Amino acid sequence: APESSPESQIKKIVFHDFEIDTWYKSPYPEEYTRSNVIYICEYCLKYMNSPISYDRHQLKNCNLSNNHPPGLEIYRDSKSRVLIWEVDGRKNISYCQNLCLLAKLFLNSKTLYYDVEPFIFYVLTEIDEIDPSKYHFVGYFSKEKLNNSDYNVSCILTLPIYQRKGYGNLLIDFSYLLSRSEFKYGTPEKPLSDLGLLSYRNYWRLTVAYKLKALYQRFMVENETPSTDPKQTAGTETAEAPNGGTLSVSIESICKLSGMTPSDVVVGLEQLDALIKNPTTNNYGIVLNMNKINAEIDKWEKKNYTKLDYSKLLWKPM
Ligand code: ACO
Ligand code: ZN
Repeated sequence: APESSPESQIKKIVFHDFEIDTWYKSPYPEEYTRSNVIYICEYCLKYMNSPISYDRHQLKNCNLSNNHPPGLEIYRDSKSRVLIWEVDGRKNISYCQNLCLLAKLFLNSKTLYYDVEPFIFYVLTEIDEIDPSKYHFVGYFSKEKLNNSDYNVSCILTLPIYQRKGYGNLLIDFSYLLSRSEFKYGTPEKPLSDLGLLSYRNYWRLTVAYKLKALYQRFMVENETPSTDPKQTAGTETAEAPNGGTLSVSIESICKLSGMTPSDVVVGLEQLDALIKNPTTNNYGIVLNMNKINAEIDKWEKKNYTKLDYSKLLWKPM
């Protein structure tokens, strides 16, 4: 009998007029898991099991009548229509619990659902193209408020209908922007899911590429050397300008520029074939392979994904 069988699970959610297939089980209360479909308000994330209550909710019962998440608006880019909200797990318990239940539908690992108070949730919304008073839920990440570790993301999600458009990358970039504002190096909580690992490896590689390029360009300008010769400059942590100046790149300098931990910087460097071991000293050196670096950056820029504008952060560390 399907009623209370452990197999009963939500197969689909109706969300912002989309039907989305779920990926994993989530511990919604039993009366909801019995139906194959649940209806979720994209503003307050309340879940319902009938289309009638859903319609009624959308028309008049949603207490988030402003059509956006609760909490503080801390980032607004009007041109790309992207907003990020900071939602305190202590002040908006039911919203954050609903958010975790929703996220679990797309996460295999165990996550928190009810103990949301120690966390802050950063929710990304997109302003509706036609009706600018509507803020569509795109994704989020959570972060522990007080932690002694260097974790800057606990859990991250882009809803499947918005995936592979660069929003995950934007959220990750935002998490590092917050870390830099706190003068910290951050890293996501482990273990990462397969998709989390793919997204982070992509982010680490690109970020290290951008930082190396910026360091190289600044070096070339400072040494008044026309940057016509971006050929491979192999060596141990240094590149030499024709006029004798020396560019010294350390892992530490990339950490400072990016907010990434040394081990994640190393992952980025490895993917750019930028780390070489000196066979005699066994030390690692950084190689600036500008062809590879430029190719990675160009490939990414061609996708035209929305980028974070660091100057638009409205946030002060607590
Ligand atoms: N397959 C291959 N590469 C991928 C994939 C994928 N499915 N998803 C992301 N990537 C890599 C690609 O290089 C991609 O660039 P491209 O699309 O131009 O090739 C790059 O990451 C950036 O992708 P985004 O579009 O920015 O990422 P997205 O918005 O799709 O979100 C996320 C990524 C958040 C991991 C999403 O897949 C998701 O929500 N998955 C389910 C939940 C989950 O697994 N979260 C991570 C758990 S780990 C943790 O929370 C710390
Ligand atoms: Zn609602």
